[in-house]
Amino acid sequence: MQRISLVKQAHSLIKDTLQHGDIAIDATLGNGHDALFLTELVGPTGLVFGFDIQASAIENTRERFRLAKLESPTLILASHALMSEKIPEQYHGKVRTIMFNLGYLPGGDKHLITQTESTLVALQSAGKLLAKDGLLTIMAYPGHPGGDDEALKVAQWCSQLAPLYFNYQLTLSEADKPSAPKLFTIQKLT
Ligand SMILES: C[S@@+](CC[C@H](N)C(=O)[O-])C[C@H]1O[C@@H](n2cnc3c(N)ncnc32)[C@H](O)[C@@H]1O
Repeated sequence: MQRISLVKQAHSLIKDTLQHGDIAIDATLGNGHDALFLTELVGPTGLVFGFDIQASAIENTRERFRLAKLESPTLILASHALMSEKIPEQYHGKVRTIMFNLGYLPGGDKHLITQTESTLVALQSAGKLLAKDGLLTIMAYPGHPGGDDEALKVAQWCSQLAPLYFNYQLTLSEADKPSAPKLFTIQKLT
């Protein structure tokens, strides 16, 4: 069976959605790979906001942009649970893409992971911040402690979304392996 890279799959869907001048949010900056990807897609006329609770993630992201010779996006040292209040109101309902890559900072402290409760608060806000036709992607990793519950609750959150307003899809990376990563993609229809 061909193994699908879910991160690549998420990027491919985002590429089909994000255009120059759009607004995007990276809800979990980590080492800044996704933030750089989003920034390149929206170009100099677009806007990217990024969140992380770890100062080292903000620094790593800043450094990634410095090396890429690109101006850093707006980097916010705060939980994504505060997304609604941290993103200026003028952009609410206008965000074209929001990415969540859950879990821990690669190369960092594996105990500092996303927590189910704040993830769900953030997802609720993300649903409101998205523009019509906007895309929300969530990479979840059931393979680490706490990650299984988080992935389950994210799945439950997705399945209670009103089908009139949101289209939800789950993509699995490998068959029959509960610890394999999962990609949730949600499109806002109206
Ligand atoms: C898997 S990493 C993200 C990878 C990243 N998108 C990249 O491209 O490198 C997950 C990140 O989520 C961050 N995180 C954990 N809880 C958070 C929260 N409540 N709000 C925002 N970020 C959080 C962690 O500090 C970690 O850096």
